[in-house]
Amino acid sequence: MSHSEVNIIMSKRVLVTGPFGQIGSELVPELQDKHGKENVVALGHNYIPDDYEGVLEQGDVKDKEFLESLWEKYDFDVVYHLASLLSATGEKRPDLAWSVNMDGLKNILDLARENDNKVFWASSIAVFGPNTPMDDTPQHTILEPVTMYGVTKVSGELLCQYYNEKFGLDVRGLRYPGLLSWKEKPGGGTTDYAVEMFYKAIQGEKYTCFVREDTQLPMMYMEDAIEGTLQLMEADEEDITIRTSYNHSAISFRADKLVEEIQRYYPDFEVEYEPDERQKNADSWPNSVDDSKAREDWGWDHKYDLEKMAEVMIENLEEKLN
Ligand SMILES: NC(=O)c1ccc[n+]([C@@H]2O[C@H](COP(=O)([O-])OP(=O)(O)OC[C@H]3O[C@@H](n4cnc5c(N)ncnc54)[C@H](O)[C@@H]3O)[C@@H](O)[C@H]2O)c1
Repeated sequence: MSHSEVNIIMSKRVLVTGPFGQIGSELVPELQDKHGKENVVALGHNYIPDDYEGVLEQGDVKDKEFLESLWEKYDFDVVYHLASLLSATGEKRPDLAWSVNMDGLKNILDLARENDNKVFWASSIAVFGPNTPMDDTPQHTILEPVTMYGVTKVSGELLCQYYNEKFGLDVRGLRYPGLLSWKEKPGGGTTDYAVEMFYKAIQGEKYTCFVREDTQLPMMYMEDAIEGTLQLMEADEEDITIRTSYNHSAISFRADKLVEEIQRYYPDFEVEYEPDERQKNADSWPNSVDDSKAREDWGWDHKYDLEKMAEVMIENLEEKLN
C-alpha cells in the first residue's frame, strides 16, 4: 500500500465552520497538517481569503438543507463548529445572534448525531454573568449572562450536554477566554481591545480603549487555544467528564497592565480610556477562571504568560504590518 493510500485510510474527514475567523484561520492549517489538506472541508460564509488553499464550500449554518447536502457529498467524521456571532455584534443584532448561534448549532448537532460524528463546539467566558463569583470562577457555578451572546452560549452548552446524554453524541467544548492573535483580526468581541492595542502601538498611533483601565479579564494567546482544542479532541472519551464546556484559562490582566507591557517595547505608546456599551459585557465577566477540571481530565496546560504573549504578538505584527 502506498503512503498516500495509508494516509487516506487513517485520516479523518473534517468539517470546519467559521474557518476564516480569528480562531478558524489558525485551526484550519493545523487540521490540514494533521489530516491532509484534502480531508479538511472549510465552510466559508461571507468572507473567503484570496490565499486559502484547500477544500472549500460556501454557505450558511442556518440552512439545514444546504448542510445536509454537504454531509451527502463528504463523509465527515469530525466537525469543528466555530461559526457564530460574537458578543459585541450579538448585542447589535440579537435576533440574528440567536438564530446563527442556536439554529446553527442545532443543525450541526442533529447531522452529527445522525452520522455518528465527533463534534467540537466553542463556548465562552460569556456564559458567566454579574452573579457569578468573579475570581477563580469555578467550573460549576451561577450562569446568568446579561448578553444575547452569553444566553446563546449557556443554551448551547446545555444542548450539547443533552445530545451527549440523550443520544450519546461525542460533543466536546471549551469556554474560551479572550483570545489574542496576529493572523486574523478579532471578529466583534468584547476583548478585541487587547489585540487592537498591539496594532495601534506598532502603527505609532494613540489608542482609545473602549473599556476602563481597571478592566481585568481572562485572556489566552491563540497558540495555546489551538493546542488546547486539539488536545481536548484527542483525549480518550472516558476522560471527558464535562459535556457542557470546560473552563479554559491561561492568563488574566487589567487593560492598563497590558499597556505597560506594550510600553516596554513602545515607550511612547499612549492610551486613553473611553468606555462604551461593551464595558457592561466586560463588567459581567470574571477576572479569572479556575480551569482545574481541564487540567485534571485531559492534561491541559498553557505555555504563554503575559510577557511571552506580548513578545510574540509584537514580533509577528511588526513583520506583518511593516
Ligand atoms: N475569539 C475569541 O476571543 C473567542 C472567545 C470566546 C469564544 N469564542 C468562540 O469561538 C468561535 C469562533 O470565534 P472567532 O473569534 O473565530 O469568531 P469570528 O467572528 O472571527 O469568526 C466567526 C465566523 O463565523 C462565520 N459566520 C457567521 N455567521 C455565519 C453563518 N450564518 N453561517 C456560516 N458562518 C457564519 C463568520 O463568517 C466568521 O468568519 C465562536 O463560537 C466564538 O463565540 C471566541
